[in-house]
Amino acid sequence: MKTDILSLQGIVKIFPGVLANDHIDFSLGKGEIHSLLGENGAGKTSLMNILYGLYTPDEGEIYINGRKVQIKNPSDALSLGIGMVHQHFMLIPIMSVTENIMLGMETKKIGMLDTEKAKNRIRELSGQYKFNLDPDDLIKDLPIGTQQRVEIIKALYREANILILDEPTSVLTPQETEELFAILRSLKDEGKSIIFISHKLKEVLSISDKITVLRDGRSIGSVTPENTSEQELASMMVGREVILKVEKNVMKRGAPVLQVKDLEVNDQRGAKVVDSISFTVNEGEIFGIAGVQGNGQTELIQALTGLLPFQNGEVVMKGVKLTGEDPRKVTLLGIAHIPEDRQKYGLVLQYPVRDNLILCSYYAEPFSKRGILDYPVISEKASRLIEEYDIRTPGINTVTETLSGGNQQKIVVARELARDINLLIASQPTRGLDVGSVEYIHKKIIETRDARRGVLLVSSELDEIMSLADTIGVIYKGKIIKTLNIEEATKEKLGLLMAGVNV
Ligand SMILES: Nc1ncnc2c1ncn2[C@@H]1O[C@H](COP(=O)(O)OP(=O)(O)OP(=O)(O)O)[C@@H](O)[C@H]1O
Ligand SMILES: [Mg+2]
Repeated sequence: MKTDILSLQGIVKIFPGVLANDHIDFSLGKGEIHSLLGENGAGKTSLMNILYGLYTPDEGEIYINGRKVQIKNPSDALSLGIGMVHQHFMLIPIMSVTENIMLGMETKKIGMLDTEKAKNRIRELSGQYKFNLDPDDLIKDLPIGTQQRVEIIKALYREANILILDEPTSVLTPQETEELFAILRSLKDEGKSIIFISHKLKEVLSISDKITVLRDGRSIGSVTPENTSEQELASMMVGREVILKVEKNVMKRGAPVLQVKDLEVNDQRGAKVVDSISFTVNEGEIFGIAGVQGNGQTELIQALTGLLPFQNGEVVMKGVKLTGEDPRKVTLLGIAHIPEDRQKYGLVLQYPVRDNLILCSYYAEPFSKRGILDYPVISEKASRLIEEYDIRTPGINTVTETLSGGNQQKIVVARELARDINLLIASQPTRGLDVGSVEYIHKKIIETRDARRGVLLVSSELDEIMSLADTIGVIYKGKIIKTLNIEEATKEKLGLLMAGVNV
Protein backbone atom coordinates (compact mmCIF):
# COMPACT_ATOMS: atom_id res chain seq x y z
CA MET A 1 0.00 0.00 0.00
CA LYS A 2 1.16 3.50 -0.84
CA THR A 3 1.99 5.58 2.24
CA ASP A 4 0.24 8.88 2.59
CA ILE A 5 2.45 11.95 2.57
CA LEU A 6 0.67 13.14 5.69
CA SER A 7 -1.33 11.42 8.35
CA LEU A 8 -2.89 12.94 11.45
CA GLN A 9 -3.99 10.43 14.03
CA GLY A 10 -6.25 10.94 17.01
CA ILE A 11 -5.75 14.70 17.19
CA VAL A 12 -7.36 16.32 20.23
CA LYS A 13 -7.39 20.05 20.92
CA ILE A 14 -9.12 21.54 23.92
CA PHE A 15 -9.73 25.25 24.49
CA PRO A 16 -11.39 26.57 27.63
CA GLY A 17 -14.95 25.33 27.30
CA VAL A 18 -14.49 23.92 23.78
CA LEU A 19 -13.44 20.55 22.43
CA ALA A 20 -12.21 21.92 19.09
CA ASN A 21 -10.73 18.66 17.76
CA ASP A 22 -12.00 15.38 19.12
CA HIS A 23 -9.76 12.48 18.05
CA ILE A 24 -9.51 13.51 14.41
CA ASP A 25 -7.86 11.20 11.87
CA PHE A 26 -6.94 12.76 8.55
CA SER A 27 -4.69 11.64 5.74
CA LEU A 28 -3.41 13.28 2.61
CA GLY A 29 -2.05 11.49 -0.46
CA LYS A 30 0.76 12.75 -2.67
CA GLY A 31 -0.58 14.95 -5.47
CA GLU A 32 -3.99 15.08 -3.85
CA ILE A 33 -6.29 18.05 -3.37
CA HIS A 34 -8.14 17.25 -0.19
CA SER A 35 -10.93 19.54 1.03
CA LEU A 36 -11.89 20.03 4.61
CA LEU A 37 -15.52 20.91 5.06
CA GLY A 38 -17.54 21.68 8.16
CA GLU A 39 -19.79 24.13 9.92
CA ASN A 40 -18.48 27.32 11.46
CA GLY A 41 -16.59 26.26 14.55
CA ALA A 42 -16.31 22.61 13.49
CA GLY A 43 -12.56 22.71 14.07
CA LYS A 44 -11.02 23.11 10.60
CA THR A 45 -8.73 26.05 11.29
CA SER A 46 -7.69 24.60 14.66
CA LEU A 47 -6.64 21.33 13.02
CA MET A 48 -4.63 23.19 10.38
CA ASN A 49 -3.03 25.43 13.00
CA ILE A 50 -1.86 22.27 14.75
CA LEU A 51 -0.36 20.95 11.54
CA TYR A 52 1.38 24.28 10.96
CA GLY A 53 2.77 24.36 14.49
CA LEU A 54 0.72 27.32 15.71
CA TYR A 55 -1.19 25.22 18.26
CA THR A 56 0.06 22.25 20.23
CA PRO A 57 -2.33 19.30 20.21
CA ASP A 58 -3.42 17.87 23.56
CA GLU A 59 -3.29 14.37 22.12
CA GLY A 60 -2.51 12.69 18.84
CA GLU A 61 0.28 12.06 16.39
CA ILE A 62 1.47 13.49 13.11
CA TYR A 63 3.25 11.40 10.45
CA ILE A 64 5.00 12.76 7.38
CA ASN A 65 5.86 10.09 4.81
CA GLY A 66 5.21 7.48 7.45
CA ARG A 67 7.63 9.03 9.92
CA LYS A 68 6.37 10.41 13.21
CA VAL A 69 7.18 14.09 13.65
CA GLN A 70 6.86 16.83 16.25
CA ILE A 71 5.76 20.22 14.97
CA LYS A 72 6.33 22.79 17.67
CA ASN A 73 6.24 25.96 15.61
CA PRO A 74 5.81 27.15 12.02
CA SER A 75 9.51 26.85 11.29
CA ASP A 76 9.32 23.13 12.15
CA ALA A 77 6.37 22.91 9.77
CA LEU A 78 8.23 24.73 7.01
CA SER A 79 11.27 22.53 7.35
CA LEU A 80 9.00 19.52 6.96
CA GLY A 81 7.66 21.03 3.74
CA ILE A 82 4.37 22.34 5.08
CA GLY A 83 3.22 25.82 4.02
CA MET A 84 0.03 27.63 5.01
CA VAL A 85 -1.96 30.46 3.47
CA HIS A 86 -4.06 31.92 6.26
CA GLN A 87 -7.47 33.40 5.82
CA HIS A 88 -6.28 36.75 7.08
CA PHE A 89 -3.04 37.30 5.22
CA MET A 90 0.07 37.91 7.20
CA LEU A 91 1.82 40.20 4.73
CA ILE A 92 3.28 43.59 5.57
CA PRO A 93 1.58 46.16 3.31
CA ILE A 94 4.39 48.72 3.03
CA MET A 95 6.99 46.13 2.08
CA SER A 96 7.68 44.72 -1.36
CA VAL A 97 6.81 41.26 -2.61
CA THR A 98 10.43 40.16 -2.24
CA GLU A 99 10.82 41.59 1.25
CA ASN A 100 7.67 39.83 2.38
CA ILE A 101 8.75 36.54 0.90
CA MET A 102 12.20 36.72 2.46
CA LEU A 103 10.85 37.81 5.84
CA GLY A 104 11.85 35.40 8.58
CA MET A 105 14.10 33.33 6.34
CA GLU A 106 17.42 32.31 7.78
CA THR A 107 19.51 34.36 5.38
CA LYS A 108 23.17 34.27 6.17
CA LYS A 109 23.97 37.44 4.27
CA ILE A 110 21.49 40.23 3.69
CA GLY A 111 23.71 41.69 0.97
CA MET A 112 22.57 42.74 -2.49
CA LEU A 113 23.40 39.35 -3.89
CA ASP A 114 20.89 37.49 -1.77
CA THR A 115 18.11 39.89 -2.64
CA GLU A 116 18.90 39.58 -6.33
CA LYS A 117 18.93 35.83 -6.03
CA ALA A 118 15.61 35.91 -4.23
CA LYS A 119 14.10 38.14 -6.90
CA ASN A 120 15.23 35.79 -9.61
CA ARG A 121 13.77 32.82 -7.85
CA ILE A 122 10.48 34.70 -7.36
CA ARG A 123 10.42 35.59 -11.07
CA GLU A 124 11.13 31.97 -11.90
CA LEU A 125 8.31 30.66 -9.68
CA SER A 126 5.97 33.38 -10.89
CA GLY A 127 6.67 32.41 -14.50
CA GLN A 128 6.32 28.71 -13.84
CA TYR A 129 2.85 29.07 -12.31
CA LYS A 130 1.75 32.10 -14.37
CA PHE A 131 1.39 34.27 -11.27
CA ASN A 132 2.30 37.47 -13.02
CA LEU A 133 4.09 38.89 -9.99
CA ASP A 134 6.63 41.67 -9.95
CA PRO A 135 9.08 41.12 -7.06
CA ASP A 136 9.41 44.90 -6.59
CA ASP A 137 5.72 45.71 -6.25
CA LEU A 138 4.55 46.88 -2.85
CA ILE A 139 1.93 44.65 -1.22
CA LYS A 140 -0.40 47.58 -0.52
CA ASP A 141 -0.72 48.31 -4.24
CA LEU A 142 -1.78 44.79 -5.15
CA PRO A 143 -5.34 43.46 -5.40
CA ILE A 144 -6.34 40.81 -2.86
CA GLY A 145 -6.09 38.00 -5.39
CA THR A 146 -2.49 38.93 -6.15
CA GLN A 147 -1.59 39.27 -2.47
CA GLN A 148 -2.80 35.74 -2.06
CA ARG A 149 -0.38 34.62 -4.78
CA VAL A 150 2.43 36.23 -2.82
CA GLU A 151 1.43 34.04 0.13
CA ILE A 152 1.46 30.98 -2.11
CA ILE A 153 4.86 31.86 -3.59
CA LYS A 154 6.14 32.43 -0.08
CA ALA A 155 5.30 28.82 0.70
CA LEU A 156 6.71 27.52 -2.60
CA TYR A 157 9.89 29.54 -2.11
CA ARG A 158 10.39 27.60 1.08
CA GLU A 159 9.90 24.42 -0.93
CA ALA A 160 6.62 23.41 0.62
CA ASN A 161 5.16 20.25 -0.82
CA ILE A 162 2.12 20.28 1.41
CA LEU A 163 0.11 23.46 1.04
CA ILE A 164 -2.73 24.43 3.38
CA LEU A 165 -5.20 27.05 2.11
CA ASP A 166 -7.74 28.22 4.69
CA GLU A 167 -10.78 29.69 2.90
CA PRO A 168 -8.70 31.19 0.11
CA THR A 169 -11.67 31.89 -2.13
CA SER A 170 -13.89 33.80 0.28
CA VAL A 171 -12.23 37.07 -0.72
CA LEU A 172 -11.78 36.30 -4.41
CA THR A 173 -13.87 37.26 -7.41
CA PRO A 174 -15.15 34.32 -9.53
CA GLN A 175 -12.46 35.12 -12.11
CA GLU A 176 -9.70 35.11 -9.47
CA THR A 177 -11.06 31.84 -8.09
CA GLU A 178 -10.76 30.24 -11.52
CA GLU A 179 -7.19 31.47 -11.76
CA LEU A 180 -6.39 30.12 -8.31
CA PHE A 181 -7.85 26.75 -9.27
CA ALA A 182 -5.66 26.62 -12.37
CA ILE A 183 -2.66 27.25 -10.11
CA LEU A 184 -3.73 24.54 -7.67
CA ARG A 185 -4.16 22.05 -10.50
CA SER A 186 -0.70 22.74 -11.84
CA LEU A 187 0.78 22.37 -8.35
CA LYS A 188 -1.01 19.06 -8.06
CA ASP A 189 0.36 17.91 -11.42
CA GLU A 190 3.80 18.47 -10.02
CA GLY A 191 3.06 16.19 -7.12
CA LYS A 192 2.33 18.80 -4.47
CA SER A 193 -0.41 17.98 -2.00
CA ILE A 194 -3.03 20.51 -1.02
CA ILE A 195 -5.47 20.89 1.84
CA PHE A 196 -8.26 23.24 0.79
CA ILE A 197 -10.91 24.79 3.05
CA SER A 198 -14.05 26.41 1.67
CA HIS A 199 -17.73 26.77 2.50
CA LYS A 200 -18.68 26.88 -1.17
CA LEU A 201 -19.84 23.41 -2.03
CA LYS A 202 -19.67 23.89 -5.80
CA GLU A 203 -16.01 24.83 -5.52
CA VAL A 204 -15.23 21.92 -3.27
CA LEU A 205 -16.88 19.52 -5.70
CA SER A 206 -15.01 20.95 -8.66
CA ILE A 207 -11.48 21.08 -7.23
CA SER A 208 -11.20 18.15 -4.82
CA ASP A 209 -9.95 14.60 -5.18
CA LYS A 210 -11.25 13.84 -1.74
CA ILE A 211 -13.46 15.62 0.79
CA THR A 212 -13.42 15.13 4.56
CA VAL A 213 -16.25 16.49 6.66
CA LEU A 214 -15.83 17.65 10.25
CA ARG A 215 -18.72 18.17 12.62
CA ASP A 216 -18.41 19.37 16.22
CA GLY A 217 -14.71 18.64 16.26
CA ARG A 218 -15.06 15.09 14.94
CA SER A 219 -14.32 13.69 11.52
CA ILE A 220 -17.50 12.16 10.23
CA GLY A 221 -16.13 10.68 7.04
CA SER A 222 -14.52 11.21 3.66
CA VAL A 223 -16.11 11.09 0.22
CA THR A 224 -15.06 11.71 -3.37
CA PRO A 225 -16.79 14.30 -5.59
CA GLU A 226 -18.05 11.57 -7.95
CA ASN A 227 -19.88 9.88 -5.14
CA THR A 228 -21.56 12.82 -3.50
CA SER A 229 -23.61 15.95 -4.14
CA GLU A 230 -24.02 19.45 -2.73
CA GLN A 231 -27.12 18.30 -0.90
CA GLU A 232 -25.36 15.32 0.68
CA LEU A 233 -22.33 17.36 1.72
CA ALA A 234 -24.62 19.94 3.32
CA SER A 235 -26.43 17.29 5.32
CA MET A 236 -23.16 15.64 6.36
CA MET A 237 -21.90 18.94 7.71
CA VAL A 238 -25.01 20.09 9.45
CA GLY A 239 -26.52 16.78 10.49
CA ARG A 240 -29.92 17.61 8.97
CA GLU A 241 -31.43 18.44 5.58
CA VAL A 242 -30.50 21.93 4.39
CA ILE A 243 -32.62 23.89 1.94
CA LEU A 244 -30.15 25.26 -0.56
CA LYS A 245 -32.77 27.18 -2.48
CA VAL A 246 -34.35 30.24 -0.88
CA GLU A 247 -38.15 30.52 -0.78
CA LYS A 248 -39.68 33.95 -1.03
CA ASN A 249 -43.04 35.60 -1.66
CA VAL A 250 -43.66 38.20 -4.34
CA MET A 251 -42.44 41.64 -3.49
CA LYS A 252 -44.90 44.24 -2.20
CA ARG A 253 -43.06 47.46 -2.92
CA GLY A 254 -43.92 50.40 -0.63
CA ALA A 255 -42.72 53.95 -0.12
CA PRO A 256 -39.09 54.95 -0.66
CA VAL A 257 -36.74 54.36 2.28
CA LEU A 258 -33.41 55.36 0.80
CA GLN A 259 -33.05 57.70 -2.15
CA VAL A 260 -29.63 58.19 -3.67
CA LYS A 261 -29.18 60.82 -6.37
CA ASP A 262 -26.12 61.57 -8.47
CA LEU A 263 -23.81 60.42 -5.73
CA GLU A 264 -20.08 60.93 -6.20
CA VAL A 265 -17.51 59.54 -3.81
CA ASN A 266 -13.74 59.71 -3.87
CA ASP A 267 -11.60 56.99 -2.38
CA GLN A 268 -8.93 57.65 0.24
CA ARG A 269 -6.48 58.67 -2.47
CA GLY A 270 -8.89 61.17 -4.00
CA ALA A 271 -9.83 59.20 -7.11
CA LYS A 272 -13.49 59.28 -8.10
CA VAL A 273 -14.71 55.73 -7.55
CA VAL A 274 -18.47 56.31 -7.30
CA ASP A 275 -19.56 58.25 -10.34
CA SER A 276 -23.01 59.80 -10.35
CA ILE A 277 -24.97 56.88 -8.94
CA SER A 278 -28.74 57.10 -8.48
CA PHE A 279 -31.14 54.50 -7.14
CA THR A 280 -33.98 54.04 -4.68
CA VAL A 281 -34.59 51.33 -2.11
CA ASN A 282 -38.25 50.99 -1.17
CA GLU A 283 -40.06 49.39 1.74
CA GLY A 284 -40.51 45.70 1.18
CA GLU A 285 -37.78 45.56 -1.44
CA ILE A 286 -34.33 44.00 -1.59
CA PHE A 287 -32.20 46.09 -3.90
CA GLY A 288 -29.13 44.09 -4.85
CA ILE A 289 -25.93 45.61 -6.14
CA ALA A 290 -24.09 43.12 -8.29
CA GLY A 291 -20.58 43.68 -9.48
CA VAL A 292 -17.04 42.47 -9.43
CA GLN A 293 -15.34 43.56 -6.22
CA GLY A 294 -13.49 46.85 -6.63
CA ASN A 295 -15.96 48.69 -8.86
CA GLY A 296 -16.94 51.26 -6.23
CA GLN A 297 -19.33 49.22 -4.11
CA THR A 298 -17.11 49.45 -1.00
CA GLU A 299 -16.93 53.24 -1.15
CA LEU A 300 -20.62 53.56 -2.03
CA ILE A 301 -21.56 51.69 1.13
CA GLN A 302 -19.01 53.58 3.23
CA ALA A 303 -20.51 56.87 2.06
CA LEU A 304 -24.06 55.72 2.81
CA THR A 305 -23.11 54.54 6.29
CA GLY A 306 -21.23 57.67 7.24
CA LEU A 307 -17.72 56.21 7.04
CA LEU A 308 -16.61 58.25 4.01
CA PRO A 309 -17.62 61.77 2.93
CA PHE A 310 -19.24 62.27 -0.46
CA GLN A 311 -18.31 64.96 -2.93
CA ASN A 312 -21.59 65.46 -4.75
CA GLY A 313 -25.13 64.25 -4.83
CA GLU A 314 -27.87 63.63 -2.33
CA VAL A 315 -28.74 60.85 0.07
CA VAL A 316 -32.21 60.96 1.61
CA MET A 317 -33.32 58.51 4.25
CA LYS A 318 -37.07 58.57 4.91
CA GLY A 319 -37.19 62.25 4.06
CA VAL A 320 -34.10 63.17 6.09
CA LYS A 321 -31.04 64.34 4.20
CA LEU A 322 -27.77 62.65 5.15
CA THR A 323 -24.69 64.77 5.04
CA GLY A 324 -22.06 62.08 5.20
CA GLU A 325 -19.45 61.21 7.81
CA ASP A 326 -21.68 60.68 10.82
CA PRO A 327 -21.99 56.97 11.62
CA ARG A 328 -23.90 57.57 14.87
CA LYS A 329 -26.57 59.63 13.08
CA VAL A 330 -26.86 56.90 10.48
CA THR A 331 -27.43 54.35 13.23
CA LEU A 332 -30.03 56.55 14.92
CA LEU A 333 -31.94 56.94 11.65
CA GLY A 334 -32.47 53.21 11.75
CA ILE A 335 -29.87 52.02 9.33
CA ALA A 336 -28.33 48.68 10.18
CA HIS A 337 -25.01 47.89 8.56
CA ILE A 338 -23.30 44.56 8.03
CA PRO A 339 -19.87 45.70 6.82
CA GLU A 340 -17.77 43.91 4.27
CA ASP A 341 -14.75 43.74 6.57
CA ARG A 342 -16.04 42.35 9.85
CA GLN A 343 -12.73 42.58 11.67
CA LYS A 344 -12.11 46.19 10.75
CA TYR A 345 -15.56 47.76 10.95
CA GLY A 346 -17.87 45.19 12.50
CA LEU A 347 -16.29 44.07 15.74
CA VAL A 348 -14.05 45.02 18.58
CA LEU A 349 -12.11 41.77 18.64
CA GLN A 350 -10.77 42.16 22.16
CA TYR A 351 -14.25 42.68 23.63
CA PRO A 352 -16.36 39.85 24.96
CA VAL A 353 -19.03 38.42 22.68
CA ARG A 354 -21.71 40.08 24.84
CA ASP A 355 -20.44 43.62 24.21
CA ASN A 356 -20.11 43.08 20.49
CA LEU A 357 -23.71 41.92 20.38
CA ILE A 358 -25.01 45.28 21.62
CA LEU A 359 -22.33 47.53 20.17
CA CYS A 360 -24.74 49.97 18.53
CA SER A 361 -27.47 50.12 21.12
CA TYR A 362 -25.72 49.99 24.48
CA TYR A 363 -26.27 53.71 25.05
CA ALA A 364 -30.05 53.47 24.74
CA GLU A 365 -32.90 51.94 26.74
CA PRO A 366 -33.32 49.18 27.84
CA PHE A 367 -29.56 48.49 27.95
CA SER A 368 -28.64 51.74 29.59
CA LYS A 369 -30.68 53.77 32.04
CA ARG A 370 -29.60 57.30 32.96
CA GLY A 371 -26.13 56.57 31.67
CA ILE A 372 -25.69 53.34 33.60
CA LEU A 373 -25.37 50.06 31.76
CA ASP A 374 -27.85 47.43 32.86
CA TYR A 375 -25.73 44.27 32.64
CA PRO A 376 -28.44 41.73 33.46
CA VAL A 377 -30.58 43.06 30.58
CA ILE A 378 -27.59 43.17 28.23
CA SER A 379 -26.54 39.64 29.15
CA GLU A 380 -30.04 38.33 28.68
CA LYS A 381 -30.25 39.86 25.21
CA ALA A 382 -26.80 38.50 24.28
CA SER A 383 -27.72 35.00 25.41
CA ARG A 384 -30.89 35.10 23.37
CA LEU A 385 -29.04 36.19 20.20
CA ILE A 386 -26.40 33.48 20.69
CA GLU A 387 -29.14 30.90 20.88
CA GLU A 388 -31.17 32.25 17.99
CA TYR A 389 -28.26 32.70 15.59
CA ASP A 390 -26.49 29.54 16.69
CA ILE A 391 -23.28 31.39 17.56
CA ARG A 392 -20.81 28.76 18.73
CA THR A 393 -19.09 30.24 21.76
CA PRO A 394 -18.32 28.89 25.23
CA GLY A 395 -20.22 31.84 26.72
CA ILE A 396 -21.16 35.51 26.55
CA ASN A 397 -17.92 36.58 28.21
CA THR A 398 -15.62 34.81 25.76
CA VAL A 399 -13.26 37.17 23.94
CA THR A 400 -14.55 37.59 20.40
CA GLU A 401 -11.14 37.07 18.85
CA THR A 402 -11.07 33.41 19.89
CA LEU A 403 -14.24 32.55 17.97
CA SER A 404 -14.01 30.91 14.55
CA GLY A 405 -14.24 33.24 11.54
CA GLY A 406 -17.81 32.33 10.69
CA ASN A 407 -18.99 32.73 14.25
CA GLN A 408 -17.51 36.23 14.36
CA GLN A 409 -19.54 37.03 11.25
CA LYS A 410 -22.69 35.70 12.91
CA ILE A 411 -22.22 38.15 15.80
CA VAL A 412 -22.28 41.09 13.40
CA VAL A 413 -25.30 39.79 11.53
CA ALA A 414 -27.23 38.97 14.72
CA ARG A 415 -26.56 42.39 16.22
CA GLU A 416 -27.58 44.28 13.09
CA LEU A 417 -30.70 42.24 12.38
CA ALA A 418 -31.89 42.34 15.99
CA ARG A 419 -32.44 46.09 16.01
CA ASP A 420 -35.59 47.88 15.02
CA ILE A 421 -34.54 49.39 11.73
CA ASN A 422 -35.79 51.08 8.58
CA LEU A 423 -33.04 49.99 6.28
CA LEU A 424 -30.57 47.14 6.27
CA ILE A 425 -27.35 47.65 4.36
CA ALA A 426 -25.65 44.30 4.02
CA SER A 427 -22.28 43.87 2.34
CA GLN A 428 -21.22 40.29 1.71
CA PRO A 429 -23.43 39.24 4.65
CA THR A 430 -22.70 35.54 4.36
CA ARG A 431 -18.96 35.68 3.66
CA GLY A 432 -17.31 32.80 5.51
CA LEU A 433 -20.58 31.29 6.74
CA ASP A 434 -21.39 27.60 6.47
CA VAL A 435 -24.35 26.43 4.38
CA GLY A 436 -26.73 26.08 7.31
CA SER A 437 -25.96 29.60 8.52
CA VAL A 438 -26.28 31.00 5.00
CA GLU A 439 -29.74 29.46 4.82
CA TYR A 440 -30.68 31.05 8.15
CA ILE A 441 -29.31 34.51 7.34
CA HIS A 442 -31.02 34.50 3.94
CA LYS A 443 -34.29 33.71 5.68
CA LYS A 444 -33.73 36.59 8.11
CA ILE A 445 -32.95 39.05 5.31
CA ILE A 446 -36.17 38.06 3.55
CA GLU A 447 -38.09 38.45 6.83
CA THR A 448 -36.64 41.96 7.15
CA ARG A 449 -37.96 42.80 3.68
CA ASP A 450 -41.33 41.20 4.40
CA ALA A 451 -41.58 43.32 7.56
CA ARG A 452 -41.72 46.32 5.17
CA ARG A 453 -38.14 47.41 5.66
CA GLY A 454 -35.77 48.31 2.86
CA VAL A 455 -32.75 46.15 2.17
CA LEU A 456 -29.66 47.17 0.23
CA LEU A 457 -27.60 44.09 -0.49
CA VAL A 458 -24.09 44.13 -1.91
CA SER A 459 -22.68 40.80 -2.85
CA SER A 460 -20.11 39.50 -5.26
CA GLU A 461 -21.85 36.10 -5.15
CA LEU A 462 -24.20 36.01 -8.11
CA ASP A 463 -26.11 33.14 -6.55
CA GLU A 464 -26.79 35.24 -3.47
CA ILE A 465 -27.96 38.25 -5.49
CA MET A 466 -30.13 36.10 -7.72
CA SER A 467 -31.83 34.33 -4.85
CA LEU A 468 -32.46 37.36 -2.64
CA ALA A 469 -32.80 40.53 -4.70
CA ASP A 470 -36.06 41.88 -6.13
CA THR A 471 -34.27 44.56 -8.10
CA ILE A 472 -30.67 44.41 -9.26
CA GLY A 473 -28.36 47.28 -10.07
CA VAL A 474 -25.14 46.28 -11.79
CA ILE A 475 -22.16 48.40 -10.82
CA TYR A 476 -19.23 48.77 -13.17
CA LYS A 477 -16.38 51.28 -12.86
CA GLY A 478 -18.30 53.37 -10.34
CA LYS A 479 -21.53 53.57 -12.30
CA ILE A 480 -24.74 51.59 -12.13
CA ILE A 481 -24.84 50.61 -15.76
CA LYS A 482 -28.16 48.84 -15.64
CA THR A 483 -31.06 48.22 -13.27
CA LEU A 484 -33.23 45.16 -13.81
CA ASN A 485 -36.09 43.34 -12.11
CA ILE A 486 -35.28 39.87 -10.91
CA GLU A 487 -37.61 38.43 -13.57
CA GLU A 488 -35.46 39.86 -16.35
CA ALA A 489 -32.16 38.85 -14.78
CA THR A 490 -30.30 35.75 -15.87
CA LYS A 491 -26.85 34.69 -14.75
CA GLU A 492 -25.48 35.15 -18.24
CA LYS A 493 -26.89 38.65 -18.58
CA LEU A 494 -25.55 39.70 -15.19
CA GLY A 495 -22.17 38.17 -15.96
CA LEU A 496 -21.89 40.24 -19.13
CA LEU A 497 -23.04 43.43 -17.42
CA MET A 498 -20.56 42.89 -14.61
CA ALA A 499 -17.83 42.74 -17.23
CA GLY A 500 -19.01 46.10 -18.59
CA VAL A 501 -20.86 44.75 -21.63
CA ASN A 502 -24.20 46.51 -21.77
CA VAL A 503 -26.90 44.08 -22.88
N1 LIG B 1 -7.29 30.49 20.21
C1 LIG B 1 -8.47 30.01 20.62
N2 LIG B 1 -8.89 30.17 21.90
C2 LIG B 1 -10.08 29.68 22.30
N3 LIG B 1 -10.92 29.00 21.52
C3 LIG B 1 -10.57 28.80 20.24
C4 LIG B 1 -9.33 29.29 19.71
N4 LIG B 1 -9.24 28.94 18.41
C5 LIG B 1 -10.38 28.27 18.13
N5 LIG B 1 -11.17 28.17 19.22
C6 LIG B 1 -12.48 27.49 19.31
O1 LIG B 1 -12.37 26.24 18.66
C7 LIG B 1 -13.54 25.93 17.93
C8 LIG B 1 -13.16 25.57 16.50
O2 LIG B 1 -12.74 26.75 15.84
P1 LIG B 1 -12.10 26.75 14.39
O3 LIG B 1 -11.57 28.11 14.18
O4 LIG B 1 -11.20 25.60 14.24
O5 LIG B 1 -13.42 26.52 13.49
P2 LIG B 1 -13.56 26.45 11.90
O6 LIG B 1 -14.03 25.07 11.56
O7 LIG B 1 -12.33 26.91 11.26
O8 LIG B 1 -14.79 27.46 11.65
P3 LIG B 1 -15.02 28.62 10.53
O9 LIG B 1 -15.65 27.94 9.36
O10 LIG B 1 -16.04 29.52 11.16
O11 LIG B 1 -13.74 29.28 10.25
C9 LIG B 1 -14.45 27.14 18.02
O12 LIG B 1 -15.46 26.85 18.96
C10 LIG B 1 -13.55 28.25 18.52
O13 LIG B 1 -14.27 29.13 19.34
MG1 LIG C 1 -11.81 28.66 10.16
